[in-house]
Amino acid sequence: MFDLAGKIAVVTGGSRGIGRATSIALAEAGAFVLVNYRSNEEAAKETLRLIEGAGGQGELLPFDVADPGAVDRAIQGAVERHGRIDILVNNAGISIDQLLLRVSSKDLEMTWATNVGGAVYCAKACIRPMMRNKWGRIVNVSSVVAESGNPGQVAYSASKAALLGITRTLAREYASRGITVNAVAPGFIETDMTFDLSEAAKQKIIDQTPLGRIGRPEEVAAAVVFLASEEASYITGQVVRVNGGMYV
Ligand code: NAI
Repeated sequence: MFDLAGKIAVVTGGSRGIGRATSIALAEAGAFVLVNYRSNEEAAKETLRLIEGAGGQGELLPFDVADPGAVDRAIQGAVERHGRIDILVNNAGISIDQLLLRVSSKDLEMTWATNVGGAVYCAKACIRPMMRNKWGRIVNVSSVVAESGNPGQVAYSASKAALLGITRTLAREYASRGITVNAVAPGFIETDMTFDLSEAAKQKIIDQTPLGRIGRPEEVAAAVVFLASEEASYITGQVVRVNGGMYV
């Protein structure tokens, strides 16, 4: 439906879950997808196989988003190979769930370094190549809990709310350069991140979701592809909520 032919896209945390579905969907729309992963090379290779199986193209781009030097080296190398970066999806994220009384400074630091630092480092590395082309799309993967809050997720919800601030600020900073910056805020999506929840906890979430079910990674990916497309050219600084109506 949306044509991303000729575009070079980077998807962080592309080895599984929402990142994998997004990598495949962008490739199906015609983009060449650089699939980032940190440690699980086998899973990232499987994403690449699925991209190629769907008739798309891409390559692996390993780096730790929390390491600014590694981010710069990897993105610079990608720009040298491909001449451009058009689309950045800041999807990599971790959640360390603890009630306030149990949350440690290490939990906070790790969450911040990955979810917030990672997004800023990647945006910083990609923004110059985007400015050169006077075109760019940055999509940050936030979360419903950034806006609704959730007991036990003080570190995670703070980091995902920070991503909304980053989205709005970068949208204003780079609008004049032809670069849009938006966020998607998924609700409860069936991935490894949510796999460990008990059946009772899952049922409680379903009961709070007007559409009455858990979401699929492909349903988040579809929103990312739209925001990355030419058709979304007048949308910037916005949050697209993909949450089954859980938070309206
Ligand atoms: P996931 O745990 O399956 O995927 C997260 C990905 O990020 C993994 O591939 C992981 O290796 C990668 N990653 C983590 N730290 C990294 C680092 N330092 N450098 C590079 N890659 C790193 O989880 P899922 O569900 O696919 O999550 C994707 C994004 O969506 C995350 O940002 C998450 O917070 C967000 N999200 C997920 C929801 C859900 O219900 N599954 C709901 C709302 C937001």
